[in-house]
Amino acid sequence: MTKIAQLEKSIKKLDRNKGPLIPLLQQTQAIYGWLPEEALRHISEALDIPLSKVYGVVTFYSQFYLKPRGRHCIKSCQGTACHVRGGKNVLQALEHHLEVSEGGTTKDLKFSLDTVACLGTCFLAPVVMVNEDYYGDVAPKEVPKILKNYE
Ligand code: FES
Repeated sequence: MTKIAQLEKSIKKLDRNKGPLIPLLQQTQAIYGWLPEEALRHISEALDIPLSKVYGVVTFYSQFYLKPRGRHCIKSCQGTACHVRGGKNVLQALEHHLEVSEGGTTKDLKFSLDTVACLGTCFLAPVVMVNEDYYGDVAPKEVPKILKNYE
């Protein structure tokens, strides 16, 4: 089934009495991996909501992405516990090896790199999360080995 057909199916299943926009945007992002303009236009027309309002909601919530994301999502913790234990150096090592800045996605769409304020595992500081995997007590020199797990 094409992505637009999957989106169409999600639109048909909507309960229009329950503020359908955010759930539909979440489903759309699950289908595409991000929110392309084509899909947002389709949603705008299907729900009869101005495109500007759709964009307003998308840009308000940090969970939505207007650019393609990498297949693997890296979160480098920059919270206090991680910061004092060298989290910044780990982030710099990630940026160096991936050749992207924080918030960016590699050209091959393999990795996206983000920072977070705490991953809830401060005792493991500094912490990096790749998809659902936690890496604790990370040293900058360990970054290539961690990334190799996702090659
Ligand atoms: S500050 Fe990094 S896990 Fe809590």
